[in-house]
Amino acid sequence: MTLKNDRFLRALRRQPVDRTPVWMMRQAGRYLPEYRATRAEAGSFMDLCKNADLACEVVMQPLRRYPLDAAILFSDILTIPDAMGLGLYFETGEGPKFTSTIKTAADVAALPKLDVNIDLGYVMNAVRTISAELNNDLPLIGFSGSPWTLATYMIEGGSSKDFRNAKAMLYNDPEAMLLLLDKLADAVTDYLLAQIEAGCQAVQIFDSWGGALSHDAYEKFSLAAMQKSVSAIKAKYPDVPVILFSKGGGQWLEVMADTGADALGLDWTTDISQARARVGDRVALQGNMDPAVLYAKPEQIRAEVVRILKGYGHGTGHIFNLGHGVTPEVDPEHAKAFFEAVVELSPQYHQS
Ligand code: CP3
Repeated sequence: MTLKNDRFLRALRRQPVDRTPVWMMRQAGRYLPEYRATRAEAGSFMDLCKNADLACEVVMQPLRRYPLDAAILFSDILTIPDAMGLGLYFETGEGPKFTSTIKTAADVAALPKLDVNIDLGYVMNAVRTISAELNNDLPLIGFSGSPWTLATYMIEGGSSKDFRNAKAMLYNDPEAMLLLLDKLADAVTDYLLAQIEAGCQAVQIFDSWGGALSHDAYEKFSLAAMQKSVSAIKAKYPDVPVILFSKGGGQWLEVMADTGADALGLDWTTDISQARARVGDRVALQGNMDPAVLYAKPEQIRAEVVRILKGYGHGTGHIFNLGHGVTPEVDPEHAKAFFEAVVELSPQYHQS
């Protein structure tokens, strides 16, 4: 089973590549008119996630337009709390919501242990369908939210600006919070292992709200739970690369690298050249163009790509990406200028 394009996996392993591989967080999404059409056909976002053929179709859409080096499973991080019985739904323009939330230690204790191949069997079906369609042309990335990031949604009942309830629980009842994080870490581990077994060749943990924690709280309440999953995945599948992305986590790169993850995602607030100097020989780095650069003119997009390529410098171990997901308002032609700039301008950083 050899991949036709293994540039992404090679860079994650810090093996030589001919150019910097590139993909984009949320590359299948609302900025593409063909995504909006397929989503309308599915009915709702969750119907789209649960329909393996349509989920596969939206994974393929950006691959038809752009010179991408990886595909990412189409699903959502909130499938785990949904499978635990919290009732995920999306209201137009309002983001995700849950019909029930976690308020007390008793709610935490009552959360069921998932059998991911049954409770999230639709995700594994999607992985198998996408994997067959990709036919080893490109690697498929599986993903999960981090335990802390999932906990924030489960406690707040949706998106939040200040994480008021989640942080109150963290400080008032750290034991309940740690039990919740531990249960979620087990679910995240089982979920990612099942995605690997269904055909994913790399996995990413999205710790979207790790950066909202205090310096002390980050290690105890976000990193430790991710560590549990990384250790379990690396013990079972040492050759499958694991990417950790803590948005706002630039100050914690050293301890993130200590987890044994293969790569760290960087948001745009961290200087990639300094990041490489700090951890570059231990892990690969993924990122980190400000997603808002895609609102600018193609010449400016190219200039930012050059700046980041120069910043990382010569050699392997860099996967080009945005520092967070692409936003719905981006012009698909601007995304194209971004990918083409990486393809065209990065080979010179890989000549011996
Ligand atoms: O990257 C990809 O193309 C794969 C698919 C993917 C989705 N969500 C599809 C999606 C991935 C990797 C995610 C991860 C995700 N989901 C995260 C972590 C990444 C990050 O952005 O920090 C988070 C926090 C979520 C939770 C979530 N799901 C939110 C907050 C929303 C609403 C946000 C919004 O933009 O409205 C979603 C819905 C969602 N997940 C959409 C997509 C394409 C939009 C749904 C729609 O079509 O209406």
